[in-house]
Amino acid sequence: MSSTLLTGIAELATNDPAAGDGSPLGVVTDAAVVVDQGAIAWIGAAARAPAADARTDLGGRAVVPGFVDAHTHLVFAGDRAAEFAARMAGTRYDGGGIATTVAATRAATDDTLRALLAGRIAELRAQGTTTVEVKSGYGLTVADEQRTLRLAAEVTTETTFLGAHVVPAGAARGDYVDLVTGEMLRACAPHARWIDVFCEPASPHAFDGEEARTVLEAGRAAGLGLRVHGNQLAAGPGVGLAVELGAASVDHCTHLTDADVEALAGGTTVATLLPGVEFCTRSPYPDARRLLDAGATVALATDCNPGTCYSSSMPFVISLAVRELRMTPAEALWSATAGGALALHRDDVGVLAPGRCADLAVLDAPSHLHLAYRPGVPIARALLLTSP
Ligand code: NIG
Ligand code: FE
Repeated sequence: MSSTLLTGIAELATNDPAAGDGSPLGVVTDAAVVVDQGAIAWIGAAARAPAADARTDLGGRAVVPGFVDAHTHLVFAGDRAAEFAARMAGTRYDGGGIATTVAATRAATDDTLRALLAGRIAELRAQGTTTVEVKSGYGLTVADEQRTLRLAAEVTTETTFLGAHVVPAGAARGDYVDLVTGEMLRACAPHARWIDVFCEPASPHAFDGEEARTVLEAGRAAGLGLRVHGNQLAAGPGVGLAVELGAASVDHCTHLTDADVEALAGGTTVATLLPGVEFCTRSPYPDARRLLDAGATVALATDCNPGTCYSSSMPFVISLAVRELRMTPAEALWSATAGGALALHRDDVGVLAPGRCADLAVLDAPSHLHLAYRPGVPIARALLLTSP
């Protein structure tokens, strides 16, 4: 494979503070990038760019690291548009609608699910996402959870076993936790990198702190990394448990006590905020400013799923984060790229520097500010130069 010189980059955000302007975003203006063997070989001012075998002119566009969407539920069939309409008329979200998607997903063939998944991957690439995490959780039987993860593994290495999404209809709570931590985990662990649990005592369908601990400890014993859905609907045990167990990420973090914020600031667990969920459920937003000011690490992700946020758009999430979560445009971009990479324990993506993956997002705009400044306008697209 030959090397390629990318020129015509009006502004390059690297997330490498050693590059460019020395800010956390490491911004280089009038930049060039050399890509070789799918990795970044050189980054700097265009005027000093070395020669390469081929040359691509990006025409004065901005380039940022490809978005790292560290939380999605992309394997599902059907939709819940009627549930959305009911919510907009005042019905509260409590997780009960998940059963509708479970029924539709179980009834779909592998080929149908594969085609739906491929369509969603194309959709997120067209909006600048280059790394995506995909959870199971709409199967809730041993066979359906396992096939969900097999399909997810066809499109990403970041696969998450979420058998503990809700207790399925007809199952006794204790029996279901036994299944998830026993036979289902054994069937799913070979196809998953992570385990997740919907820890939300405020929902009659989800799991309490002790059940969540049981699920996470079993997952860890099976070799999986830990992630948690926590504190979405109310303050509860999810965040504290995630930090105590050293989970990579605790996601939602909408309702936090001071102790939760302190724990996140003092621990290694990333707080992944999903403001598309609050938008689509008409709920109060999480407060990123409070977390950032306390010193916590914040990531942003879509949570793309048919219930609480049927959007695969990281630029949409960035514009919400700036407008509603009190983040600066620079903080939001960092959290949607480097923050997502930290939430997935990935050191090869999210930052553009020599040796890292050549996973870029190109903007039809002269600077990254336009991601928040032009909400709803499709200015970002993925440029995946990672080999093969
Ligand atoms: O992250 N909260 C739990 N799970 C998803 C929603 C799933 C659904 O409603 O289908 C979430 O919001
Ligand atoms: Fe989720």
